[in-house]
Amino acid sequence: MDIPVSTKAYLNYLRTVREPTPLIVRGRTFTVLPGVFLPGSGSLDYFFQHLPLKDGRTLLEIGTGHGILPLLYAIERDIQGVGTDLLPEAILCARLNANRHGVTDRVDFRQGDLFQPLRRDERFDVVFWNTTVFGEKPVDDMDRAVTSENYESLDRYLREGRSWLRPGGSLCVGFTVDADPTFLKARIAEYRYDIQAVSSLEKTREHPLIYVLRPR
Ligand SMILES: C[S@@+](CC[C@H](N)C(=O)[O-])C[C@H]1O[C@@H](n2cnc3c(N)ncnc32)[C@H](O)[C@@H]1O
Repeated sequence: MDIPVSTKAYLNYLRTVREPTPLIVRGRTFTVLPGVFLPGSGSLDYFFQHLPLKDGRTLLEIGTGHGILPLLYAIERDIQGVGTDLLPEAILCARLNANRHGVTDRVDFRQGDLFQPLRRDERFDVVFWNTTVFGEKPVDDMDRAVTSENYESLDRYLREGRSWLRPGGSLCVGFTVDADPTFLKARIAEYRYDIQAVSSLEKTREHPLIYVLRPR
């Protein structure tokens, strides 16, 4: 079937999915359970190639969903990671994928709100969230993948994110060219980050964008 193009229409399609969906990224097969945000493989490959992660460094992915991004880094680059997500079904899905690829010793998936599942002393070289991009009230869990009321969770991500970085680390935001970046840009300035890089891949459905931020 043709997958609808706008993000909101795409969510309607995802609400009809009742079976686990295989997703092949960088030649590896993962599973995305019903109720878990199903991205295009192109955007995950793009994030994988553009996050500023050197070998031997560590990654925290907020809103990891299916967990594929930290799993790719663990499989291909031996990078240690932690993934968090609000949804229990996302964490179940991510653990299933970690088991399937034999990297449960390198990536730890934890359920909870943003940074709440972390130990107080944990720090990371790169913190990333392919974030919520709309500011109205979410109507259900699927909507919560892309929407938070008044951008509340994106605001907290930017406000608190710097405290989880190692010295020299980067806070990264996945966004989309389809959404209005006014709020995001205002908070980047208010919370005193320098924008190191912005890159985008426009030829996929999601039109992903990455902002790489450094705390001033
Ligand atoms: C756009 S999806 C990204 C999923 C996956 N990382 C990807 O790139 O395909 C955003 C994810 O953030 C999660 N999320 C939303 N609000 C959150 C919060 N306050 N704390 C943790 N995760 C959250 C959603 O459940 C969803 O899995």
